Amino acid sequence: MTKIKDIDCHKIVNSRGDWTIQTRVVLEDGSVGIQTIPDGASKGKKEAVYVTPEKSVELVTHVIKEAITGIDAFDQGKIDRTLVEIDGTENKKHLGANSILSVSLASSKAAAQSKNIPLYKYLAELYKNTEKLVIPTPVFNILNGGKHASNDLSFQEFMVIPAKKLPFDEQYEMGVNIYHTLEKNLEKAGQDVGVGDEGGFAPNGLNPKTALEFIKDSASEKYKVGTDVFLGMDVAADSFKDVMNYFIEEEGLHLSTDGLVDYYRELLKHNPIIYLEDPFYEEDFDGWKKIYKEFASNLMVVADDLTVTNPLILEELLPMKLHNAVIVKPNQVGSLTETFEFIRIAKENNMMITVSHRSGDTAEDTFIADLAVAVGADFFKSGAPARGERVAKYNRLMEIFLDLKEIT
Ligand code: PGA
Ligand code: ZN
Repeated sequence: MTKIKDIDCHKIVNSRGDWTIQTRVVLEDGSVGIQTIPDGASKGKKEAVYVTPEKSVELVTHVIKEAITGIDAFDQGKIDRTLVEIDGTENKKHLGANSILSVSLASSKAAAQSKNIPLYKYLAELYKNTEKLVIPTPVFNILNGGKHASNDLSFQEFMVIPAKKLPFDEQYEMGVNIYHTLEKNLEKAGQDVGVGDEGGFAPNGLNPKTALEFIKDSASEKYKVGTDVFLGMDVAADSFKDVMNYFIEEEGLHLSTDGLVDYYRELLKHNPIIYLEDPFYEEDFDGWKKIYKEFASNLMVVADDLTVTNPLILEELLPMKLHNAVIVKPNQVGSLTETFEFIRIAKENNMMITVSHRSGDTAEDTFIADLAVAVGADFFKSGAPARGERVAKYNRLMEIFLDLKEIT
């Protein structure tokens, strides 16, 4: 047992130039855990909510500090339960998911330091993962649109996904090579190679079909597309939804739910897409059901805004059969214990797990890399293999990869 002795919190700036918080938890034995909090731009309606960074600093350094000081840092359940109880709301609006999560995660880091073991090992112990630890497959978002870029592309993320059979170092290299080939090809075509929030290129004048063509052509210069590398998209369909329709402005298309299903059918026919995230907005259950029924046998239908890392929401949606994979973002729910619960339920129901960053992130924070390894996630999403706050997570996976290689 090592008690929490002190908690401190201050403001820092994230990758989008927005203020966020950084919290420091100090234990009696001198161990320290520091956690910075990310922020999304394309959020699900049911995500736990943040309070302003100023309010968060105030709450962490007073209300939360008083409630948490003296608790055993190894009792993560008690730390999170206490935080959730004093918040007392369904969406954490009283203390803020940012305040709660920063203390929850920083405490686990301090506990890992106190035990003198790497964070991923400590988290694996907490999650009671007895399987052999492996590195998840990275999902590289190399072309940005939607709310993550100021271009005219309505789909948010276009991704390349290396084959699962490859070791992480080769997967990483593949992502980097394809990223640079895409840059070269965009430049050759007279396109802009400025980047969006997640480090992917953000050219104008493309549509989902031509974007996929660019990526396929770039990937196939060095690799076998459909064998060594596959394609994925986070559509984030909520961001181009009209009152009655989905509006793909760059093609002048107003599509009904069925129209969008047809649109996906065409894309899937011509491209080796294995991963489709948020293909419909979060209340369009009809669309989700249709895509699941027709394609789920060989497509990952990934829920992000739909399930928001919330165990209660996930359980409620299970009987409807809407998806076969989930995104895990600890800040959508606001505590480590609830994140673990969510992953456990998803796994029990044979869903693929993708642990993910947020579009507003920091290079200081690599927690999700350790988390992904600890819980045995299948995939890992941290944007492009470029920009400090994106590669910090991939680089942390590389460290763990080398660490695990030494052990075996
Ligand atoms: P966000 O989006 O981090 O901007 O909310 C990322 C995603 O939709 O996966
Ligand atoms: Zn998403």
